[in-house]
Amino acid sequence: MAPTSLFSVFSSLIALTLLPQRSLCQDSTNYTTTAYHDPVTGLDMQRFQDTASNLSFAIAVPDCANKTDFIGQLTFPLNGSAGWGGFSVNQNMVGPLLFAAWSDGKNVISSFRQAPSYDYSPPETSGPFKARAIAKGTSVNDTHLCYTFVCECCLDPTFGFQSNATMMGYALSSKPVAGAEAPSGVLKYHDLGFGAFKAQLDQAKVSQADFDGVAGSAEAPLMPAANATAFNVTAAAGGGM
Ligand code: HEM
Repeated sequence: MAPTSLFSVFSSLIALTLLPQRSLCQDSTNYTTTAYHDPVTGLDMQRFQDTASNLSFAIAVPDCANKTDFIGQLTFPLNGSAGWGGFSVNQNMVGPLLFAAWSDGKNVISSFRQAPSYDYSPPETSGPFKARAIAKGTSVNDTHLCYTFVCECCLDPTFGFQSNATMMGYALSSKPVAGAEAPSGVLKYHDLGFGAFKAQLDQAKVSQADFDGVAGSAEAPLMPAANATAFNVTAAAGGGM
């Protein structure tokens, strides 16, 4: 074989070996939370960042007593005010407690959801869980939403949270929410990304005093619509709805 052909065979082989690695390396998202100091609340949190979509979700839990509460900070880009971002209390969409936030053009609107299937917008659900906004860490404009909140009663195994695995899910959509002014707004598919991440909650602990100091400034919760479906604990445990 002529040296040039040998060279081209070799370069093709090298290219073939490198290609898959390059495509694997294109997603630099770390699917485990990492340490994050939030300058707004002053809390040392754990944060997941999806580098592809720019959604991030930071979390802090109290170091004692009630471990079902957390302080969360959800930030993501908006598409001319349209879009929604959310999380799941485990790695799945169908069954566990879900939460979504979006803009009505002026304010952040949010609600808890539970999905009976993948086929349509998960309906609003009601239960003991509550999200209370922390005003100094909440802002929204046409291109960006930041929602800092206390999630009360959210990390409960009854709602699908797995206290040993502490896997969580996230989702982001660029599509407008229909009826965005109400917590029951209809969500379209998460076209910008979705998936699971490991929430290192052992490293997200803050003192109860620091937790209460921030949580104390939280607003009254946005209540679900009267016709929201009561949370189905059997479905959260994988039993279907
Ligand atoms: C609070 C809102 C939502 C959250 C937090 C959420 C979260 C997730 C997560 C974590 C997954 C991957 C794990 C799994 O397959 O179960 C997923 C998958 C999926 N979600 Fe959602 N989701 C939400 C809303 C929606 C909506 C509104 C739709 C469509 C109308 C939808 C359709 C789907 C589909 C079809 C999949 C299967 C995976 C695929 O795309 O192939 N989701 N979702």
